[in-house]
Amino acid sequence: MLHAESYISGAELAADCQVSRTAVWKVMEQLRAEGCQIESVPHKGYRLVSQPDLFCESYLKRAVKECRTNWQFRHFKELDSTNNFAKELAAHDAPSGTVVIADQQTAGKGRIGKSFYSPKGNLYFSVIEKLALPIAHMMSVTACTAAAVFLALKQFGVMTQIKWVNDLFLNQKKICGILSEGSFNAELLSMDYLVIGIGINLRHDPGCPEELRSIITDLETETGTCINKYDLLIEILKQLEILLDEIPAHSYLDIYTKNSYTLGHTVRMDNGTEGTAIGFTEDAGLIIRLSDGTEQILRTGSATVID
Ligand code: BTN
Repeated sequence: MLHAESYISGAELAADCQVSRTAVWKVMEQLRAEGCQIESVPHKGYRLVSQPDLFCESYLKRAVKECRTNWQFRHFKELDSTNNFAKELAAHDAPSGTVVIADQQTAGKGRIGKSFYSPKGNLYFSVIEKLALPIAHMMSVTACTAAAVFLALKQFGVMTQIKWVNDLFLNQKKICGILSEGSFNAELLSMDYLVIGIGINLRHDPGCPEELRSIITDLETETGTCINKYDLLIEILKQLEILLDEIPAHSYLDIYTKNSYTLGHTVRMDNGTEGTAIGFTEDAGLIIRLSDGTEQILRTGSATVID
């Protein structure tokens, strides 16, 4: 009823909906409060300039109905962390394929105990997977997810680079972070469940803390446009189910390697040692050549690209 291209008068809307003009005005105020940008011009009427990404379960269900996974969506306006909530659900028998989404996070988590800044406007979600995966494959899960997000963004014309092990970069700045967690079954020596958390910065955030401005970016700032976050979510889930299935065959590695932000660069490990990133092992460990010619494989911690 409201369009971006044309105006519709309050009187027309009131007649269409069989309500008073005061009721129309009240609805406009409510939509504005929910994030819609609505222009109102005297003698012309209302025009919808932009609308926020609204969660619509039936739209998502329809979009993923061809998937092998029975994706189930749980949406929240705010959570401390979608990973925390998903872990609780998984421990209480939530099925594989449950996706927990939050519009914002008050205590978003990153790798190695870091926090993940999570204001409104971006995409934050965690996927529960019950794959009975050997623990040795855990790092592959994160790398494989990075490859899935890379492919999904590529579908929308956005070419990112993957920084070992869990970040996506756009124009030299971080645009996405991935955190995989899980519960280890010591008897079976495999994972009972996995929670894969993904955060992608989509919207320009004027409130971004000063200390993060040189490190992180968002799609809107870099490209001048924005993807609907639920369309992006759908594409990521489609790519993820294919690549996760193929983890034993390591098929994500080709995408991961060809689009690496890390390979060929000098990196500094957490212990201060520097070397050149020269490749990945099959399970996504980072192979680093040190100045004495020896090689080291990094499977934990971080590798900061310095050159
Ligand atoms: C990192 O930067 O080291 C990883 C960041 C992972 C962030 C995502 S946002 C959704 C999910 N919930 C969290 O608390 N963290 C992940």
